[in-house]
Amino acid sequence: MSQGLLTAAYIISGVLFILSLAGLSKQESARFGNFYGIAGMAIAVIATIASVNDINWLALLIVAIVIGGAIGVFLARRVGMTEMPELVAMLHSFVGMAAVLVGFASGLQMLGEISHACGSAKALDSVAAALGTTTDLSNQCYVAALGETKHVIHMVEVCLGIFIGAVTFTGSVVAFGKLRGIISSAPLSLPGKHWLNLAMVTASLVLGAIYLGNGAMWPLVIMTLIAFVFGYHLVSAIGGADMPVVVSMLNSYSGWAAAAAGFMLGNDLLIITGALVGSSGAILSYIMCKAMNRSFISVILGGFGTAGGTVVEGEQGEHQEATVDEVAQMLKSARSVIIAPGYGMAVAQAQYPVADITRKLRAKGIKVRFAIHPVAGRLPGHMNVLLAEAKVPYDIVLEMDEINEDFEETDVVLVIGANDTVNPAAKEPGSPIAGMPVLEVWHAQQVIVFKRSMATGYAGVQNPLFFKENTKMLFGDAKAMVDKLLAAVSG
Ligand code: TAP
Repeated sequence: MSQGLLTAAYIISGVLFILSLAGLSKQESARFGNFYGIAGMAIAVIATIASVNDINWLALLIVAIVIGGAIGVFLARRVGMTEMPELVAMLHSFVGMAAVLVGFASGLQMLGEISHACGSAKALDSVAAALGTTTDLSNQCYVAALGETKHVIHMVEVCLGIFIGAVTFTGSVVAFGKLRGIISSAPLSLPGKHWLNLAMVTASLVLGAIYLGNGAMWPLVIMTLIAFVFGYHLVSAIGGADMPVVVSMLNSYSGWAAAAAGFMLGNDLLIITGALVGSSGAILSYIMCKAMNRSFISVILGGFGTAGGTVVEGEQGEHQEATVDEVAQMLKSARSVIIAPGYGMAVAQAQYPVADITRKLRAKGIKVRFAIHPVAGRLPGHMNVLLAEAKVPYDIVLEMDEINEDFEETDVVLVIGANDTVNPAAKEPGSPIAGMPVLEVWHAQQVIVFKRSMATGYAGVQNPLFFKENTKMLFGDAKAMVDKLLAAVSG
């Protein structure tokens, strides 16, 4: 394939990626957004394959695509909706590692080219040595070549690509561990952690400067190791409830890592795609920070969720339990009902009976609405996707800001598998989730909480809502209990 055709294919892919992002920004157009993304990626992959002229490279590329594609299909088919953030974190770590490897390969290739270009100077040095004199031509040639603008720019790209890639790699591995529950979701709080971060960044800058000065590989290797530790520490320092912002922030980092790899490889499409992912991830992180009342700058510096709040262990009073018949009776005599769904509804796949019960109550003339917290579940828009899947009308699904004032005039709130997102402890200054806006369900006349036990939510913080006078617990799997409730309401 000619260079012109390849560039044209890359431009078409880039435009399709932009259309894809535009489509994904609205629920109604998300299907088309996905289609544009798939088409863009297909064109990019086919054009890249077609541009390889060497048959050995082509064979290697196809083998890599087949193995990678097979692993991708296998993982994507197995992974459940609730495990998506883990998969996304894992994929970000691959992008980070790829940028590190491309960085080293590209740095070594540049050194090889310089050494090749200085071959005649080396030969002259050898001749001089044979004649009994010493010359330093090859060293002078090497230093002069390193100082050339194109090589300086390339070395800056290599440094940045490796640094961002290494931070993204270990940061994403920690995020994966925290989301999967392999690593504790509590924030790691080392003494003087901000100074530690500053020291690591400063050391990396110094090592980068040494690399730019002499082109040697050792400063790069040490910088990479420091960046690995930095990424690990940055994400470990962030508490469980703030993980959504971390995932979108790592998404942004992985985009910048890909863009840096694009610069190193001179691949325009990788630069465009990386910049799109990097900036959209940054915008999403900013929106999430605003929704969760966190400072964007402290997220980037890995410093929030660590305000020193203490987790109150154990139960904080007596809780009351409700029976299914009791709840059915409450619902039948209510005028207004709000449903606050959370992660437990997703795990139990209770959205279908929840949608059925909504239809039933609405048919009886009862006002039913849904209150969606921006980080309910485990991925942005998780609850909206589940409710749309169960055909709940969009107009009764409201965002937290649109409905939070209405709880006071609500007769019954059904909290289905939600915990952190309805936790009044967020209003207490000393709490680890202090400052995070929550659904203020406790203002309603009666609150029913569907969950299996008194266990804490993702952030590991005890929930005082469960001990309030107007709250009753309905223990059991959310789907089984909503099914029973549906039968009781119908009866
Ligand atoms: P969580 O605080 O995670 O609580 C979910 C509750 O569901 C648990 O307390 C659990 O209690 C219950 N549950 C689990 N399986 C259940 C089942 N089969 N039937 C009934 N109940 C079940 O949920 P949330 O309120 O949605 O908050 C989300 C949390 O995840 C936040 O802390 C958020 O920061 C974090 N997070 C969110 C995201 C995004 S982007 N949304 C990403 C990563 C992390 P039992 O075990 O007692 O049943």
